[in-house]
Amino acid sequence: MKNLIETINFKPLGDRRGHLVSLEHTLGAVPFEIKRVYYLFDTKPGVIRGLHAHKSLQQIAICVKGSCRFVLDDGFQRQEILLDSSTKGIYIQSMIWREMHDFSDDCVLLVLASEIYDEEDYIRDYQMFLNIIRKDQ
Ligand code: TYD
Repeated sequence: MKNLIETINFKPLGDRRGHLVSLEHTLGAVPFEIKRVYYLFDTKPGVIRGLHAHKSLQQIAICVKGSCRFVLDDGFQRQEILLDSSTKGIYIQSMIWREMHDFSDDCVLLVLASEIYDEEDYIRDYQMFLNIIRKDQ
């Protein structure tokens, strides 16, 4: 079974005052040039977010506070992971369906993206996603 979930552990630069994580494309942990950063917060109980794939966008998602459960789906299998650490991220390649569930009240989900926002890059219909994936096989 192919591993859909690529986790990345970030090195915390800590000292006695606390911790800091710095993410730069040139330092190796981020495999693309970062063109956009956004974060999800204050997600209401029971809400499922995501529910889309991207044609070409690559992303890294990090729960910098709290936790949420990520489901990734490549059209053939689904895998999930609990993101609950500010030093662990997941790398999400293009053409992966993603869903985010079970947001904790305090969850802040930070996302690094390889492109600026483009609604044309979204596939928001699961059946359409499957059709595209299966056509390419
Ligand atoms: P969406 O990507 O659907 O959110 P989710 O993370 O739940 O999948 O985005 C929600 C709304 O915000 C949608 O109207 C598009 C808009 N949006 C932007 O304008 N810029 C962005 O960078 C992002 C990520 C979303």
